[in-house]
Amino acid sequence: MTVGVYPGSFDPVTYGHFDIIERSSAIMDRLIVAVLNNSSKSPLFSVEERVNMLIDVTKHLPNVEVRSFNGLLVDFVQANQANVIIRGLRAVTDFEYELQLSQTNRVIAPQVDTIFLTTNLKYSYLSSSIVKEIAMYGGDISAFVHPSIAEKIRAKFAGD
Ligand code: PNS
Repeated sequence: MTVGVYPGSFDPVTYGHFDIIERSSAIMDRLIVAVLNNSSKSPLFSVEERVNMLIDVTKHLPNVEVRSFNGLLVDFVQANQANVIIRGLRAVTDFEYELQLSQTNRVIAPQVDTIFLTTNLKYSYLSSSIVKEIAMYGGDISAFVHPSIAEKIRAKFAGD
């Protein structure tokens, strides 16, 4: 049984993340989307909100579950009897950071490997930060996130 962990901040989940989730869920027997609950970052959405948004957009994928985690990613991977970490690579600019992350993780936990999926070209420019910036200035984010997520972002910036 191949169990993959797709970790990230997902603040919020974009169509780029969603593309990686759909494609990796087709490769893995089970996929755990792992939402980082890290107090050193100040996210727009709480970890519960991020988990719930991910549950909402992945509910049609029966082998996908969403959880949050604290601490080291490799500890979470091992505690969940997972085999691999999955990360998306958008452009060469991602490579250096991703290489450092995966190699560090392999030093801490040699039995945990990372596999990379190249992002769909349609979303290679996309990031949660860009989506938040556009939304903050009242721009249209419908090309970047699911309609339900766009509404939650709009409400957050409107202070609803
Ligand atoms: O969406 P992001 O912010 O690029 O995801 C980064 C993430 C969650 C994969 C990374 O920050 C992480 O794994 N954090 C957990 C702490 C950890 O294990 N650090 C050691 C790896 S160098």
